[in-house]
Amino acid sequence: MDAGQSTTVGVPDAEAAARHTAALERAQTARALLQDTRNDRWYPRFHVAAPAGWMNDPNGVCFHNGRFHVYYQHFPDAAQWGPMHWGHASSADLVHWRHEPIALAPSLPEDADGVWSGSAIEAPDGRLLVFYTGNRWRNGVDDTDGLVQVQMVASSTDGGTTFTKGGVVIDTPEGIGDFRDPKVWLQGDTYCMVVAATSLQGRGQVWLYTSPDLEAWSFDRVIFTDPNPAVHMLECPDLFELDGHWVLLYGPMTTARPQGYLNRNGHNTGYVVGKWSLGGEFVPSTDYTQYDWGHHYYAPQTMRAPDGRRLSFGWMGGFTLPLASQQADAWSGQLAVPRELHLTDDLRLSASPIGEVARLRRTSTDLGSFELGVDADRVLIGAAPGDDAQALEIELEVDLAASSAEQVCLLVHQTSSDGFATSQFTKVCFDALANRVGIDRGVTARTDRGYRSAPFTGGDTLRLRVLVDRGSVEVFIGDDTAAVSSLSFPGVGVRRVTLASVAGTVAVTSLRLHELGSIWDDAD
Ligand code: FRU
Repeated sequence: MDAGQSTTVGVPDAEAAARHTAALERAQTARALLQDTRNDRWYPRFHVAAPAGWMNDPNGVCFHNGRFHVYYQHFPDAAQWGPMHWGHASSADLVHWRHEPIALAPSLPEDADGVWSGSAIEAPDGRLLVFYTGNRWRNGVDDTDGLVQVQMVASSTDGGTTFTKGGVVIDTPEGIGDFRDPKVWLQGDTYCMVVAATSLQGRGQVWLYTSPDLEAWSFDRVIFTDPNPAVHMLECPDLFELDGHWVLLYGPMTTARPQGYLNRNGHNTGYVVGKWSLGGEFVPSTDYTQYDWGHHYYAPQTMRAPDGRRLSFGWMGGFTLPLASQQADAWSGQLAVPRELHLTDDLRLSASPIGEVARLRRTSTDLGSFELGVDADRVLIGAAPGDDAQALEIELEVDLAASSAEQVCLLVHQTSSDGFATSQFTKVCFDALANRVGIDRGVTARTDRGYRSAPFTGGDTLRLRVLVDRGSVEVFIGDDTAAVSSLSFPGVGVRRVTLASVAGTVAVTSLRLHELGSIWDDAD
């Protein structure tokens, strides 16, 4: 398991630079054409998405030159995964965002089949460096004969808008195929990089590389091997210190049959909390725990904000089933709302929507406390003409000790073609029998069916915070140690929100609704 070689960081080569510029111009033109055909019925109002085309993992999340930057895996030609580029969005305040030009395109032999995921770090000289995986198909066509992956660098001197590629910094280790997703940070005076790799024995591992100067990288050690032998790859690893412990976040890939509520998606994310210091392995203090229990939350990447908060950006999308927006609307995938991370005393990760979300609130309605009768519906939004819930935050608190309902439900994305005699909706639901909170898309208009749910640990108080955008629903439960995030594509017409009780009463102690503005409005 040799570390491979190093090349000099960021040395411009005129011909290579011209090739990259041409590749970016081509991509930008293709995307502009696609954007002209974009349908906005489900396009997010307060979630970051590509202007058109495909998005997956957030990459290079950072604060640089006075702005927050999120790059992302991007195929600008179509709303499906293809040769990966890095798209780019930026924000001064994490509230208002703007689309930036595409930052990276395949242009070198080593990244000919994709500029895959990676991360960003500011160099001591003020440049922004991004480390990413260069991908090549072994047969030059597709992945059927395997892939060749190396870690590469590119640098920017204009605040993260344009990049000069610097080539390979870590070559493919002998015999290794899957080897990707470098996450870089500074630990003391040593630069560290974790990379996901499938070992020669087929095990999912996280490897650590170190560097004194961001240029010469050497293999340190395998810091983590997934104890489950059926897991062969730990995509997008991220290792960071949080509230006195270390958290290792990753996407375990397995072909094992999903059992119970865990790992139901094509791609799932979780974490292990443990101990780590430079010069040693990561020593887990906990078992693997699911990060988000919904259909769509993958490849989170974290950063430390200037004010010290640990922020996580995750991708809501899917590789496996076609999404409604993909088929007809010329875009696919969005980021979840950024989350602030903390650890509870019993070492569970709590992930709350960042406080900045409150600045998107336009009008707020306080419905106070009330009791909903047995098998009752109360329409919260959408009863009056023009009253359409397309971007909304719902804060609900229920006294379960004073409620007899078997289920407490918020029906969101509720649409109808017969004046609401019947309707289609996505059900956000506390189920007292299962003691879980979930999202059920069994009768959602334009989404594949199925439900996901998280364990409920709130005792007698059900507290939900639900973020509803035009094509997604995120549910934060209690102390935010569990979230359920799924895409959801409503039908045409007014989108209602209804509170419903099942087989009993619901004692609402507080219910507030906030209409949210667009992150793209008033962009600076
Ligand atoms: C995770 C992932 C990464 C890879 C990228 C390619 O979603 O498979 O491991 O770098 O997407 O787009």
